[in-house]
Amino acid sequence: MHQRGQHRQETEVTSSSKLPMAKPALLSRNHYVAVIAFLILCLTAVLAFISRSISSCTLSASLPGLTQRAASSLHDQVPEESSSQANGLELVRGKSIVLVSHELSLTGGPLLLMELAVLLKRAGGDVKWITNQKDTERNPTSQGLEAKLIKNGIQILLPRGSQTVEFVKLADLIVLNTAVAGKWIDATLSDNISEILKKTLWWIHEMRGHYFKLDLVKHLPQVGAAMIDSYATADYWKNRTEERLSITMPPTYVVHLGNSKELTEASEDVLARGLLRQHVRENLGLSDSDIVFAIINSVSRGKGQDLFLKSFVTALDLIEKTSPDKRQINLHAAIVGCDTTPNKYEMELRSFVAERKIEHLVHFVNKTMNVIPYLAAIDVLVQNSQARGECFGRITIEAMAFQLPVLGTAAGGTKEIIVNGTTGLLHPVGKEGMPILAQNMVQLVNNAAFRASMGRNGHGRVQERFLEKHMAHRIGQVLQKFLPNKNQYPRSFSAHKLL
Ligand SMILES: *[C@@H]1O[C@H](CO)[C@@H](O)[C@H](O)[C@H]1NC(C)=O
Ligand SMILES: *[C@@H]1O[C@H](CO)[C@@H](O)[C@H](O)[C@H]1NC(C)=O
Ligand SMILES: *[C@@H]1O[C@H](CO)[C@@H](O)[C@H](O)[C@H]1NC(C)=O
Ligand SMILES: *[C@@H]1O[C@H](CO)[C@@H](O)[C@H](O)[C@H]1NC(C)=O
Repeated sequence: MHQRGQHRQETEVTSSSKLPMAKPALLSRNHYVAVIAFLILCLTAVLAFISRSISSCTLSASLPGLTQRAASSLHDQVPEESSSQANGLELVRGKSIVLVSHELSLTGGPLLLMELAVLLKRAGGDVKWITNQKDTERNPTSQGLEAKLIKNGIQILLPRGSQTVEFVKLADLIVLNTAVAGKWIDATLSDNISEILKKTLWWIHEMRGHYFKLDLVKHLPQVGAAMIDSYATADYWKNRTEERLSITMPPTYVVHLGNSKELTEASEDVLARGLLRQHVRENLGLSDSDIVFAIINSVSRGKGQDLFLKSFVTALDLIEKTSPDKRQINLHAAIVGCDTTPNKYEMELRSFVAERKIEHLVHFVNKTMNVIPYLAAIDVLVQNSQARGECFGRITIEAMAFQLPVLGTAAGGTKEIIVNGTTGLLHPVGKEGMPILAQNMVQLVNNAAFRASMGRNGHGRVQERFLEKHMAHRIGQVLQKFLPNKNQYPRSFSAHKLL
């Protein structure tokens, strides 16, 4: 509890004067290449297989976005001389680490583990990867991702078999990714399991009820530690495991995620951002002065697009009533993350828009591998996830990197990212949140300076605690419990032990 209090204190935002300025850009060849690459990605819209997104967490939250970036971070081979790039994970040098993923696909969970795999490899770890899926479940996507792991010097192990068991027994650390990966333990290991569990770190990103099943998580009390993306989710796991399953959580660490290097670089490239903004706006038929509020998430009731659109209509009415000059109303909504074949929920959204005759103001955009063009093009991100909210919601920190204010539900990880009134505004979940979201939208429409200062504050907060290096340091601190370290490194980034 005490440590949580400290955490709350730390969430004070830095003054914007400390924020690093975006560097002025010349149209260098690199920029040009980056811009063209983004434009191509931006046009490569549909990505049906992303719909396999498995949970309410970072996974589906990151759905339209994470993918290409995470995948592209694996393009380059690990440099030979990697030890010079300290990333807070130096203590893994020479250690044998086995990462276990429940699948290998372009969804948030596996891609996050791939990012970690590369970070651990760069820090000098001997990294091995297991995908707990059948041979028949292999497909071009999983093979492509596997090839990227191999290219980065990461060895792929079969999910089962004596060789795998030997590696696991000898390993210094095993990282299980997602609650679902629990199935692998019983399927693969038999005797002496407690020794293996002791050196296992379980990284959990889920918050839905159906993950609280004994056959998935019965070994949780025996693992060395659990690592969870937000305090809200960690609290929920503690509660649910006790109440529902009568099991006790192991030592649990909250590790907030960070933005990938690629997203960070794109967000700092002022020229590319401007060109992407122009390009996307032209495609959607928007002018530069239109103010665009967007939800970038899978289209599903849990993400609250319906409530968002209703709030949008209320905001339009409010502006119409109060605006001295009605011609100045230039408020737009974008729903980014539609399926190739619209689902029932999306059809509901579309008929709502048609009934209200606001088709010209609401833009439905297909799922995309790359959210960067949309983050560059919009003015405000709306994170309207309902019920317990997002487990973490990586899109929130991605938007903040692009200096966007975020209007978010006061639930889940979102509450731990947004500083209400400073980097964005919070509204309650459910119907009672709708009028407040509408008012918050009006407030941002009417006050460009407020939008801009919130965007700058959000960017500052990301620079301070939501970059890849911060995540790496936080994970490094958790790994210290497993891998007694030889090399001391600064303790300036704290992963807070919760339970
Ligand atoms: C289990 O562990 C014990 C003690 O660590 C060891 O003697 C034994 O050989 C192990 N059994 C197997 C099957 O590995
Ligand atoms: C879990 O949550 C419920 C409802 O919010 C509460 O009544 C209960 O005391 C909590 N249990 C634990 C173990 O925290
Ligand atoms: C989005 O998907 C729909 C349905 O497949 C398709 O008709 C439409 O052309 C796509 N839009 C874009 C911009 O690719
Ligand atoms: C957010 O701040 C506003 C005032 O800026 C306040 O009215 C509202 O209650 C706050 N919401 C939460 C969830 O703290």
